[in-house]
Amino acid sequence: MRVVLGLLLLLLGLCGSGTQGEERGLGELKSRIDQLEREDAVQATELRSLETRLTATESKTSDLEKENADLQTRLSSTESRIDQLERENAVQATELRSLETRLTATESKTSDLEKKNADLQTRLSSTETELLVSKSRIEQLERENAEKPKVAFYTALTDTGYVGPHNTDTTLKYSKVFTNIGNAYNPATGFFTAPVKGVYYLQFTVCGNHTGLMGVFVFKNNQKIMFNVEWKEDKLYKYFTKSVVLELIAGDTIHLVLPSTYSVYDDVDNHSTFSGSLLFPL
Ligand SMILES: *[C@@H]1O[C@H](CO)[C@@H](O)[C@H](O)[C@H]1NC(C)=O
Ligand SMILES: *[C@@H]1O[C@H](CO)[C@@H](O)[C@H](O)[C@H]1NC(C)=O
Repeated sequence: MRVVLGLLLLLLGLCGSGTQGEERGLGELKSRIDQLEREDAVQATELRSLETRLTATESKTSDLEKENADLQTRLSSTESRIDQLERENAVQATELRSLETRLTATESKTSDLEKKNADLQTRLSSTETELLVSKSRIEQLERENAEKPKVAFYTALTDTGYVGPHNTDTTLKYSKVFTNIGNAYNPATGFFTAPVKGVYYLQFTVCGNHTGLMGVFVFKNNQKIMFNVEWKEDKLYKYFTKSVVLELIAGDTIHLVLPSTYSVYDDVDNHSTFSGSLLFPL
């Protein structure tokens, strides 16, 4: 633009001499120069404005480059972090699958155990019920047992040897009382008296020790219910044992009687005995 201006001034110089036509041409030139100067001024203004914008843009570009570099740095750091996270993720996925497998196994085991537990609970409560029933039954039996009269006796006849023979039948008084639970046997009379209604087991052993008759009558109340007899040929000890199972009511008595002319034998060795017990009350 300045080159154009210079050329115009040169032209102006070359056409320096003044004809009227030339003066008009000069005026035109001057006007043209003014116009160019205005344009130049406008362009200069535009130029400054462009320079300003350029500077601003450059500065902005530089800022953006910095930001870009920052972003690059952050991006690559983020990418590397993502890589690391992916690796960790893969490891965790493996662990997760393994945990899932274990969890599944544990859940199945738990379910089995729950079933077993439920079974055991059922059995336990049924056993507890049975136990309660048994306990109440045992308590009842204990009560019954506690209430049940206890009757048992065991005696032997005498320490003094032969009893009999006599001229009359004689009640045998077993005088050595070793057992007498319930005191149902009376050694002063030789009578056993049933204290309660029930079934009784009674047993006696008779010993003879010389030639002749040996034996006893068994009496229930005043009723003879049994006769046992042996004939002894020799002088050696001889024994027989008998037992009876009797249903008695309270107050019934049992005693043994030595028939006349018979004899039995006992001494400290307890050859002749009389015993009995209540099997169960009725
Ligand atoms: C009983 O019999 C035995 C055997 O015969 C005899 O040795 C014993 O002396 C007798 N006892 C009595 C007290 O007579
Ligand atoms: C006779 O019986 C009683 C009671 O069982 C016993 O203490 C005693 O020793 C017996 N006598 C003999 C000689 O065995």
